[in-house]
Amino acid sequence: MTIGMAVPTASVGEAAPERRDAPEGGLHDGPRQGDPRLLASDADARLRTGAEHQLLRLTRRLRLLLEVSTTVGPAMKLGAPLDDALRTLREALPEIDTAAVFLHDPQADELVPHALVGLGDEYGRIRLRPGEGISGIAFQRSQPVRCHGREHARAMHATLRPENAAHFTAALDSGSHADHAGVYKRSVSVPLRTRGCETIGVLTLGSGRADFSDDDVSVLEGVAAQLAVALDNARLYDEVRRQADELRAALAAGLEREATIARQAEERRLINEFARVAASSLDLPPLLDRVVTEVVALTGAARCRIVRYEAAADALRVLAGRVRGGAPDPWVGHGWTLAGDPGSGVTVKAGANAGAVRTGRTVTIDDTLQSSAAPPRDFPVNGVRSVVSVPIPVGGTVWGTLNVAFAEPDRATAECVALLEGVAAHLALAVHNAQLYEDAQREIAERTAAERQVRESAARLECAYEELEAAQVQLVQQERLKALGQLAAGIAHDLNNTLAPVVGFSELLRTHAAALPRQQREWLDLLHTGALDAADVVRRLREFYRSRDGHDAFALVDLAAIVAQTVDLTRPRWKDDAQAGGRTIAVRTELAPALLPVAGSAAELREALANLVINAVDALPAGGAITVRTRIEDASVALEVHDTGGGMDEETRRRCLEPFFTTKGEKGTGLGLAMVHGTVQRHGGTIEIESAPGTGTTVRLRLPLAAPSEAAVPTAAGGVEGAGDSRPPLRLLVVDDDPAVRMVTTAMLEADGHLVVEAHDGATGLAALRTGRFDVLLTDRAMPGGMSGEQLAAEAKALHPQLPVLLLTGYGDLMAAAGESPSAVDLVLSKPVSLETLRTALAAHAGATQPAG
Ligand SMILES: Nc1ncnc2c1ncn2[C@@H]1O[C@H](COP(=O)(O)OP(=O)(O)OP(=O)(O)O)[C@@H](O)[C@H]1O
Ligand SMILES: [Mg+2]
Repeated sequence: MTIGMAVPTASVGEAAPERRDAPEGGLHDGPRQGDPRLLASDADARLRTGAEHQLLRLTRRLRLLLEVSTTVGPAMKLGAPLDDALRTLREALPEIDTAAVFLHDPQADELVPHALVGLGDEYGRIRLRPGEGISGIAFQRSQPVRCHGREHARAMHATLRPENAAHFTAALDSGSHADHAGVYKRSVSVPLRTRGCETIGVLTLGSGRADFSDDDVSVLEGVAAQLAVALDNARLYDEVRRQADELRAALAAGLEREATIARQAEERRLINEFARVAASSLDLPPLLDRVVTEVVALTGAARCRIVRYEAAADALRVLAGRVRGGAPDPWVGHGWTLAGDPGSGVTVKAGANAGAVRTGRTVTIDDTLQSSAAPPRDFPVNGVRSVVSVPIPVGGTVWGTLNVAFAEPDRATAECVALLEGVAAHLALAVHNAQLYEDAQREIAERTAAERQVRESAARLECAYEELEAAQVQLVQQERLKALGQLAAGIAHDLNNTLAPVVGFSELLRTHAAALPRQQREWLDLLHTGALDAADVVRRLREFYRSRDGHDAFALVDLAAIVAQTVDLTRPRWKDDAQAGGRTIAVRTELAPALLPVAGSAAELREALANLVINAVDALPAGGAITVRTRIEDASVALEVHDTGGGMDEETRRRCLEPFFTTKGEKGTGLGLAMVHGTVQRHGGTIEIESAPGTGTTVRLRLPLAAPSEAAVPTAAGGVEGAGDSRPPLRLLVVDDDPAVRMVTTAMLEADGHLVVEAHDGATGLAALRTGRFDVLLTDRAMPGGMSGEQLAAEAKALHPQLPVLLLTGYGDLMAAAGESPSAVDLVLSKPVSLETLRTALAAHAGATQPAG
């Protein structure tokens, strides 16, 4: 018995169990024979025919399977081949009106139509749960399910959910669908089972004309198995292809990643290299050049520059630059202001560098032809399409930029920016280090200079201190000498007053001594000589403190002649006396070849040099050598006396110029060097003494070299000799409180035939002047009674303006030294005054007046 069936693709049917005992027939091709059991006579024939049918069915079944298998076998995809298979199936089984393949979607747990034949498009939207309709039931049970007849179909319809049930109800009742009313009542659904026994869907067929027999079911099971294999294959194929795609994608990703890693490694190497160089190099220019060279090589940029921002001028300057291929950038060294440089016509206000400098952030231009941020047309952008400018921040400000330009657009990628920012960070560090180093160098240089200055000023200070010390010593010495000079002046005054009558009277007595006995004459001579010797001591003492006055008319003298004369004059001391004492002293002269003119007093200079030679002789108790040298040094003449004697200790050297300082006891007065000192000072010169115990002594006098105009003819004798001619007798007024001095003066003047009136004080003198006429007034200076010599002189001049006034005083030298010159006094004479001096003075001053009549 053949089970009749009519099945739409949608699973409509009852959940009746498959009946394997269903009648034969159904989908069989060929005539329907009616009930065979009624044709017993034709048993053989029927058997044969049955066998033939059997064979035929088998053949058809095999052919159908083969066709389906050929159709779906090679297909590796679902879709069209599945449709083709269903069509093949329908062509092979003409009784079939509809065919559908539902596949199970495990996610939604629904059966989804995948191929439909003989069914409208709306069936494509149907979703069936397992157990819903014939297809759902077949899937759920994983067994073929047949539906035969309306009732059966209704039972299956009951399993449908409302949304599906409504859809089929009309078709079920009217049977209008596809013009096959029975298609819903005769249907079969066969599970699609894979080789692994997994049910992946169902194949559901419907027929409006015949039921599906067991054979049909068995054929359909074979077809279903084929389809399942094909579907499984397709699924596997899809899986494999997906995996292959995945692998391919993974491979591509891997390759890309590898390339990225390689590039990153290169970038890292570069950055590490920069970091190393940046950390170790303090010399910026080579580092900057290396950076731009490497960046061009690594990025393939058209050029790379490092641009310095000069904030004070608000300008940019290219410090380093390279173009593709490694050649130097011709713009290196070039600068332009951000506000525009009229000279070059270059404006960069809108450029990437300016942007980076202004904002402190990286500026990129993806395409210079498109970007509004692109540099203006007059900027030298030759062929540049994309640009990156990264600021280099140093110490909180933008030091400059790292600027990279590409010939292609869109090269300013994120990776490129990241790389350049990394490089810029290291550059910033290097610049910072270099600046620190520069600062340190400058600081060291400054410190060294400061130290040198401090050392120099310390040395200068020390020098100044030494000079100050020397000056102080000299000052103290001078003060000392000055004080001693004043003391000496006082002594000289007293001595002069004391000696004046001794010298004067002894001299007068000697002029009248012819009548005296010889013995008395000798005593008188001794008295006179002793007084003269004492006067000489006073004179020497006076030489020490005396300063130059009007009497010291200097002539040009030749030092060489003076030396020769002095050596001659002192010969008795260094030769005769020495030989007598059993010692030998050699005296040498080393004289400058040129004439050595000095303005001075030949007599004083001779005496000074003689003192030095005699000191040298005294320093050579066992003999030795004395050298007298002259030479020109700058504008002065050095006159040097050197001896090979025992030298002086420090104390002696320091004090030897003081008057009365001597180490020679009774034999020395200690006035020699003091006198020399006075003489040298009067000549505007200096004295130096080099001496130490055991090394001999050098005394050096420096005298100013005379200008040629000072005198026409140098003379060794030199000096102005006083005129000694006497005049006719004069009326003289002598005023002195000291009777002895008054007496001797009067005696000397009267001896020359002058008329002398004496007064013992100023008032008496003034009275005499009022009453009598005098040719000359000679007055003492310091007198008791309220009127000094100067006052008297002034009064006298008031009475007789033409009257010559001579002031005789023991302080005469001191007054001259102090520059004192009373206006009413014509001449100051120092006591003791010799007859000769008086004569000269009277001749000089009384000559202007007529002798008193
Ligand atoms: N050439 C010399 N060598 C060593 N000492 C000297 C020399 N010249 C001077 N003196 C020292 O300087 C002192 C002072 O000399 P100064 O000529 O003033 O006086 P004096 O020679 O002692 O006495 P006077 O010169 O009056 O005879 C000397 O006593 C001596 O100690
Ligand atoms: Mg001496």
